[in-house]
Amino acid sequence: MVWCAMTILLATYFCCECSGANSRREGNKTVTEVLDSLLTKEHYDSRLRPNYEGGPVEVTVGFWVLSINAINVVDMDFLLDIFFRQEWTDERLDHGLNKTMFLSNTVMDRIWMPDTYFVNAKHGSFHKITTHNIMIMIMPGGVVKYNARITIKAACPMDLRKFPMDTQHCPLSVESYGYSKEHIKFKWEKGKTDGMSFVPGNAKMLPQYSLVSLNLSKISNRYVVGNWSGIKAVFTFERMASYFLIHVYSPCALIVIVSWISFLLPRSSPPARVTLGVTSVLTVVTVMNMLNNSMPKVNYVKTIDKYLIGCFLFVFASLVEYSIVLFLAARMKIYQESYEYKKDNCKKFGTDPNSFKFLNHGGGVVFNRRSKSEKICSTQLEMMEFSKLEDEMIETPTQKTQRTWLDIKALRKRFYTEKAILAVDEYALILFPLSFGLFNVLYWLTIANDSESTFTNS
Ligand SMILES: *[C@@H]1O[C@H](CO)[C@@H](O)[C@H](O)[C@H]1NC(C)=O
Ligand SMILES: *[C@@H]1O[C@H](CO)[C@@H](O)[C@H](O)[C@H]1NC(C)=O
Ligand SMILES: *[C@@H]1O[C@H](CO)[C@@H](O)[C@H](O)[C@H]1NC(C)=O
Ligand SMILES: *[C@@H]1O[C@H](CO)[C@@H](O)[C@H](O)[C@H]1NC(C)=O
Repeated sequence: MVWCAMTILLATYFCCECSGANSRREGNKTVTEVLDSLLTKEHYDSRLRPNYEGGPVEVTVGFWVLSINAINVVDMDFLLDIFFRQEWTDERLDHGLNKTMFLSNTVMDRIWMPDTYFVNAKHGSFHKITTHNIMIMIMPGGVVKYNARITIKAACPMDLRKFPMDTQHCPLSVESYGYSKEHIKFKWEKGKTDGMSFVPGNAKMLPQYSLVSLNLSKISNRYVVGNWSGIKAVFTFERMASYFLIHVYSPCALIVIVSWISFLLPRSSPPARVTLGVTSVLTVVTVMNMLNNSMPKVNYVKTIDKYLIGCFLFVFASLVEYSIVLFLAARMKIYQESYEYKKDNCKKFGTDPNSFKFLNHGGGVVFNRRSKSEKICSTQLEMMEFSKLEDEMIETPTQKTQRTWLDIKALRKRFYTEKAILAVDEYALILFPLSFGLFNVLYWLTIANDSESTFTNS
């Protein structure tokens, strides 16, 4: 009886020992063993997606922005460095353990992965230092989490009409390459539409832009072979115009103001005035070139171009003003030597009672300066009148031409004078600043209006 009891006790002891050893061994080797048993050919076919005969796999996508590098206006793209997350459920990988398997990138080729790609990527790359920056976790219930570090250059069509007060919307679209809507459905984490939580604060500020919003949405594309499901994140960048205010707008405005110095300089110093005008024109051209070298050659006028063209026209006009002054001065010189002018001036002397007096008293001997000039005047006139008569005999002008000739004569009399030429500079000195001020007011008012309307639109 005792023996019997002893054997039973021993048996149960051994049994317990044996089962205890078994369970411990399982506890130690379990992950490898479990993984081996999960990934056997009989149990797992990595060529087939999970739930192949059933409904679509739902892939949940999220990302974390490490940096937004270059928003390239010339190539119209932007460079993103992100942690790219995907999550899907593969019931075949339900390992039955009460913990997550961390598998790094070692099982990548042995399990099924969604063939996600970035639709508008120009090129992209994984990071490989020191090993592939890819993480795979298998959680209880066969939930697979995938995380990879990706640098991606994505195309971003830009409309630069409002440059530099523009806002750019840069999309990043994700889609499956080989599985249609019936096989893979994408969705954003937690069904969010505002992705700003994907971007840390320090990545929101870029040298020339600030990220104002990140809009998440679902997309559905129709292709020849069927309908594809995808998701899209739209980064909205607002350009900070202060760079252009400092480096383009203010230099241009100052050059225009400097070109007005020309109106203060005497007419008789062409080197000073021409140099000032030409230098101003060249400087504005240089600023325009500098700006356009860093811009794509678009076939519309940008907002900044309007200002630069305005500045160019202003400096050009001040150069033109000087040429008008020079022209008038040259014509004045010719006019003052002409018969017309002399006749008029001699008439003036003639009607002046003083000059009469001198003429009467002077007789042949001339003491007075004025009557001397008159003497010369009259002899010159006589000579010129003679040639003039000859001319008129040949030409025999009609009544009509006579009138226009008279009009021109009046104009000449009016404009070919020292006073008129000086007035050109004086008027320019008032009109140029006034019109430039008006130009600025109009320019900045339209910009303010535009930005207001875009604010109300969005
Ligand atoms: C199992 O793990 C324990 C520690 O948890 C260890 O003491 C024991 O040696 C391991 N057994 C085997 C067979 O590796
Ligand atoms: C899983 O483990 C946690 C502790 O790590 C425990 O609280 C929980 O009850 C366990 N669940 C199951 C189903 O074993
Ligand atoms: C964000 O996307 C939704 C639709 O997905 C759209 O209705 C909304 O206007 C967008 N917001 C912005 C700021 O683009
Ligand atoms: C794709 O979706 C459209 C409706 O959006 C539907 O009319 C069409 O039949 C679908 N094509 C396929 C191949 O499922």
